[in-house]
Amino acid sequence: MNQANVVQSTAVRVDTFLDDVLDGLSRPHKSLPSKYLYDERGSHLFDQICELDEYYVTRTELAIMQQNASSIAHQIDTDVMLVEYGSGSSLKTRVLLDSLSRPAAYVPVDISEEHLLNTAEQLRLAYPDLKVLPVVADFTQPFTLPDCEPPASHVAFYFPGSTIGNFTPPQAGKLLQQMAAMLGQQGGLLIGIDLQKDLDVLHAAYDDREGVTAAFSLNLLSRINRELGGNFDCDRFQHRAVYNTLHHRIEISIVSLEDQVVSIGDHAIEFAAGEGILTEYSHKYTVDGFAKFARQYGFQLHKSWTDPQNYFAVLHLVIE
Ligand code: TRP
Repeated sequence: MNQANVVQSTAVRVDTFLDDVLDGLSRPHKSLPSKYLYDERGSHLFDQICELDEYYVTRTELAIMQQNASSIAHQIDTDVMLVEYGSGSSLKTRVLLDSLSRPAAYVPVDISEEHLLNTAEQLRLAYPDLKVLPVVADFTQPFTLPDCEPPASHVAFYFPGSTIGNFTPPQAGKLLQQMAAMLGQQGGLLIGIDLQKDLDVLHAAYDDREGVTAAFSLNLLSRINRELGGNFDCDRFQHRAVYNTLHHRIEISIVSLEDQVVSIGDHAIEFAAGEGILTEYSHKYTVDGFAKFARQYGFQLHKSWTDPQNYFAVLHLVIE
């Protein structure tokens, strides 16, 4: 890539970030897309969140995968094309790949080309016999599965991390519908979902004692300051995570502590005291509730695995 191309692609990205920020902050209910939480500092802070005692999510799912690796791999079977929603950089993916006998191909799907190609390369090194066929795509939209030779006998989608919980039910339904359409009769879906649990456990997971989650959340304002010329004063905002018992979800927002006007470049944004900027929903399901939800889109619960505390579940769903 020449210099001009590099500059241009950066400029395009800054424009979209600015457009998305101004669009989200000019709505009656302010919001910002959660994907912008993960710049370099944000990704580093998120890694720290995953190490916290309070944040059970990542470690619990990994433990479920480790403890049930052969039973899970057995459901997915041989000659499978394993398609992961996400870049496949996690340990969970490796647990699965270690236990599958003769997968036909492994297809990580991610919107970030750089990240995707990096992890694909690492997987090729770790699994020299595995056919790794990365696909750059936004998986919320239908995409085409690659061909592989010899052809796979069936396709299994892998959607870990309870990422489905970050979608609203209509968005999640649309995604399940697209997955069902892409899978065909022989296919299956292995999906991680975070379960409903004690409210104290949930609150602590999304607002830890040491304030790592708060730092992660507020870093979005610092990022806007750094990249878009904003003048947010992070001391005048606060991280908030509340559980909505009606919708069974943690609602994560950044709340203004006072009436104030913030500028981003030439744009002025007004905040009232107590007004929030929504950054993320994290829906919590029950195994039965999710199975019922997925049934509307043609999936049947085949098997599920959970941890001793019932905090998290991995579900294998097949097309009816
Ligand atoms: N997808 C993660 C989750 O729902 C993201 C997350 C964890 C998060 N802690 C957060 C997002 C705090 C924003 C703020 O569990």
